[in-house]
Amino acid sequence: STAAAPDPTATASHWDALWLNVRLMPLTAADPAATVCDGALAVRDGRIAWLGPRAALPADAAAKRVHDGGGGWLLPGFIDCHTHVVHAGQRSEEFELRLQGESYEAIARRGGGILSTVRTTRAASEDALFAQSLPRVRNLLREGVTTLEVKSGYGLEPHSEARMLRVARRLGRELPLRVRTTFLGAHAVPPEFAGRADDYITLLCDDMLPALAADNLVDAVDAFCEHIAFSTAQVQRLFEAAQRLHLPVKLHAGQLSDLGGAELVARFGGLSADHLEEISDAGIDALRRADCVAVLLPGAVHFLQVKERPPVAELRAAGVPMALASDCNPGTSPMPSVLAALNLGCLLLGLTPVEALAGATRHAAAALGLAHETGSLEPGKAADFALWDVERPAQLCATLGFNACRQVVFGGELRPL
Ligand code: NIG
Ligand code: FE
Repeated sequence: STAAAPDPTATASHWDALWLNVRLMPLTAADPAATVCDGALAVRDGRIAWLGPRAALPADAAAKRVHDGGGGWLLPGFIDCHTHVVHAGQRSEEFELRLQGESYEAIARRGGGILSTVRTTRAASEDALFAQSLPRVRNLLREGVTTLEVKSGYGLEPHSEARMLRVARRLGRELPLRVRTTFLGAHAVPPEFAGRADDYITLLCDDMLPALAADNLVDAVDAFCEHIAFSTAQVQRLFEAAQRLHLPVKLHAGQLSDLGGAELVARFGGLSADHLEEISDAGIDALRRADCVAVLLPGAVHFLQVKERPPVAELRAAGVPMALASDCNPGTSPMPSVLAALNLGCLLLGLTPVEALAGATRHAAAALGLAHETGSLEPGKAADFALWDVERPAQLCATLGFNACRQVVFGGELRPL
């Protein structure tokens, strides 16, 4: 446990809310494993104003509202930094086919996979898309998620891609959480462009992306760099278009094969390289030098029963920041759960519980370009946190199928569960 010195400059009398009788795991970069046993945390104007041992509270500590944490653990709100939660329909038929031995690639090549969800998503109205996505997002909310990334990529034509991104924005407006949108128009080659992937990329670069960005629907740009999707040369053209619009990039890289996606996204100063079951030493080194986050998605490893693993030991040794996310999507990870990702991240990928927890908070914030805003309990950051009825934080990783979340606070406001 660490002890913070009393802060003489703290203006305690102006606090909006104060949590007492809590144990703290701030998950800061300086000391990710640090904890405070008898802690207190103060909020002012939606931000963390003070935190530390209760004994170090300023003498004049006073707040408009005082909450008794009942001895629970207070952690930063989770950040699910890679999801496809907005989609219509489901693909359990493909789950059954894979159980019988068919591969994800084989199903994709004959028009199933992503293109199956493209058909159902294109056919859904905006309200239907919102209504179908809502239960998944609610599940994440109940698990203490306070920031959610949402990708497009099941429209693959201007109207449906815009509809997906508007639904994502609406989720952020109507629910108490922060939403970041990612344009994933380069998720698959749409049927209209079969055999003409280059022409489709041209459409994305020249029309779709600029128009969606002009409507403020795009916070970042992503692509699926894979044999069954887009080549590095095609992704590079898309990234150049993103750069012209001053949009940050990230990439689905090395999920099924290593095409050099990690090197490519690092070269563009990207926020993150995601999946990485297949990555070379040169790829790891490129991520390290570019300070690009490796986003690990153990749900996809689990559901596809992939034998390869992202090289966690090598990424750790190189000092590449590792984030952890649900990858919630109807095909490779029908799992709207960060808690499940924590468990699978430890068991399937070999993360330590502290790494998994930092991966779903601070490093996930970095993967969205939000490192200065959220992702750890530090004065000045947004007051996004969750209170857990557990004895130790590692219990969140060591348990599966149980949600011990008691309270969630987003931007300083207590959120109904
Ligand atoms: O992150 N790999 C590409 N995209 C998703 C899968 C999407 C789907 O199968 O619908 C992923 O795993
Ligand atoms: Fe994905």
